[in-house]
Amino acid sequence: MNIGPHVLANNLFVAPMAGVTDRPFRMLCRALGAGYAVSEMVTSRRDLWQTLKTSRRANHEGEPGPIAVQIAGTDAPMMAEAAVYNVERGAQIIDINMGCPAKKVCNKWAGSALMQDEPLALAIASAVVEACAPYGVPVTLKMRTGWSQSNKNAVRLARAFEDAGVQMITVHGRTREQGYGGHAEYESIAAVKDAVRVPVVANGDITTPEKAREVLACTKADAVMIGRAAQGRPWIFREIAHFLSTGTHLAPPLVAEVKRLLLDHLQEHYGLYGEYTGVRSARKHIGWYVKGLPAAQEFRDRLNAIEDCTAQLAAVAGYFEELAVAHDRLPAPVRAGSDNEEEAVETVE
Ligand SMILES: Cc1cc2nc3c(=O)[nH]c(=O)nc-3n(C[C@H](O)[C@H](O)[C@H](O)COP(=O)(O)O)c2cc1C
Repeated sequence: MNIGPHVLANNLFVAPMAGVTDRPFRMLCRALGAGYAVSEMVTSRRDLWQTLKTSRRANHEGEPGPIAVQIAGTDAPMMAEAAVYNVERGAQIIDINMGCPAKKVCNKWAGSALMQDEPLALAIASAVVEACAPYGVPVTLKMRTGWSQSNKNAVRLARAFEDAGVQMITVHGRTREQGYGGHAEYESIAAVKDAVRVPVVANGDITTPEKAREVLACTKADAVMIGRAAQGRPWIFREIAHFLSTGTHLAPPLVAEVKRLLLDHLQEHYGLYGEYTGVRSARKHIGWYVKGLPAAQEFRDRLNAIEDCTAQLAAVAGYFEELAVAHDRLPAPVRAGSDNEEEAVETVE
């Protein structure tokens, strides 16, 4: 599969997730079978570009290409300027965020809220495409199925975006009104796929290899994008790839492999964030890795009291060494409730 001149390794994508899909996590997912990863969104507000948060998000050191940067905002000239700024700093693909219920930017709602104002949404797409054209950088866009149940305008918008020069469209199968509640539906994604010639990516609630196959089949989408199911489970991409090509399941990863992957992940995480922020922000990743595993709650409680890298690494190593006494391979996690219970916390900057 291609995005403009870029040939992707496969059609299994990591979803952009602010506060989650930073460079270390994207690289881990890529190493474990994802063909493509989009960065966390970067604001179009110039006054915030120099902040530590935005500069960390713009860090692509050592990341395999193509480097895709997602931008969020509500003003067409500002979005065009943000696109150029990121292209000049290494972005090879610019993705426009019309998909997440992002907080206010410049007193207007960004992200999926733009779907309610079709002329503005189109003006943004056209301005960004025009700004990227001299650099030969393709522009892609991520949206939802519509603003609300009674206003599902993804098909109309997708046609307009394609005419404006957008080269790939990702659709999360929920409306903006739904937030993360209810279930994703795939009929609207199939309708978008039917309506445009550019590649379409299906997203929303893909949590297993079977679901990936089902969504690819029922939408005819060119690719699937996985978000929350990859949290703490970055090997889901190789599991899906294996299932799609053979129809059989890979064995769960060895506990020893998970321990090594997580320890490496943590080292990269501390490298990006430093010790103080790194130890604290790593807790959520560690929590996802151990979610539903034996003695996970006690372990998380202990973890919250740890404030330095060495002790955090030792605690993680100890947890998995103990787990390995009884289990060669990762036991099936006992999941409480549905996957949709995960509340998404998204910030623009
Ligand atoms: C914590 C979190 C942060 C997110 N941040 C972004 C973002 O920066 N840009 C975006 O387009 N979507 C964002 N999303 C939405 C995801 O990309 C994806 O569309 C959504 O989670 C549905 O896919 P899933 O069911 O596979 O998780 C975020 C979702 C979560 C859970």
